Amino acid sequence: MTIQWFPGHMTRARRQIQEKLSLIDVVIELVDARLPLSSRNPMIDEILQGKPRMIVMNKADLADPSVTREWIEHFKSEGHTAVAADASSGQGIKEIPLKAKELLKEKIDRQIAKGIKPRPVRALIVGIPNVGKSTLINRLAGRSIAATGDRPGVTKGQQWIKVGTDMELLDTPGILWPKFEDQNVGYRLAVTGAIKEEILNVEDIAFFAVKYLARYYWPNFQERFELQEAPTDYENPDEIVAVMEAIGRKRGCIVSGGRVDLEKASGILLRELRAGKMGRFSMEAPY
Ligand code: G4P
Repeated sequence: MTIQWFPGHMTRARRQIQEKLSLIDVVIELVDARLPLSSRNPMIDEILQGKPRMIVMNKADLADPSVTREWIEHFKSEGHTAVAADASSGQGIKEIPLKAKELLKEKIDRQIAKGIKPRPVRALIVGIPNVGKSTLINRLAGRSIAATGDRPGVTKGQQWIKVGTDMELLDTPGILWPKFEDQNVGYRLAVTGAIKEEILNVEDIAFFAVKYLARYYWPNFQERFELQEAPTDYENPDEIVAVMEAIGRKRGCIVSGGRVDLEKASGILLRELRAGKMGRFSMEAPY
């Protein structure tokens, strides 16, 4: 579900997360592994008020694994703990409670030294819509928790979900908004399906996707759509449109006069991309 964020929504969403901070020890910040910056909230540091945090790069099954590794190193170099995960299959999620405990090691050690038996680590998942918060909560819980809806302002009684013996998770995630001011961020989010196409023009989204992905993942394009020549100048819009037209021809998107229906071709291309049919790709890299 896509939500329209207005300043009032943002303030409310922020307040809701901040109210929960006093209940928890650690924040699990979920980002999309294909675009870990664009899928982050621009004010996250301020919102979390210094609460220990780990970054979980979700949907890593769809991202370019070498780029994901670079991102993990990048976040590490910035002093963050980051792991890659695929909440759909459960790949990588075992690391989450372990890393959360590691983050709180000093506190836990102090408690042990005082003879206090440490209680399970209490965690809150936060992230923008569609990043996989509910999927991850269900995975960590090992069962299906009722969907809570993406509307900021939806409140309900909170429950703690046990994750093994070492972690407890709030059942309602914190919903954050992405950075809308930067148009490229909007396009990256639209390419991956995090924001709905109606907000941006489908041909523009496909153009943005082809411009970036044909440059870095040309063999995937070539194989999927049996294309001949790679563009020679990725900054030349005509060459990018020529790739889109070739894709359209391959998928039979022809209108009267033999012209390619670019809108239809764009829709098909984006659906195939999002479904992982063109292989794994990342939309941004840390270098
Ligand atoms: P949210 O709570 O943050 O809004 O996200 P949610 O869990 O609803 O997940 C959004 C979509 O992303 C879902 O797909 C979900 O299956 C998919 N997803 C979540 N985690 C992963 C992952 O690690 N890898 C992949 N490939 N997909 C993931 P959907 O199409 O909206 O629904 P459905 O097809 O699951 O019914």
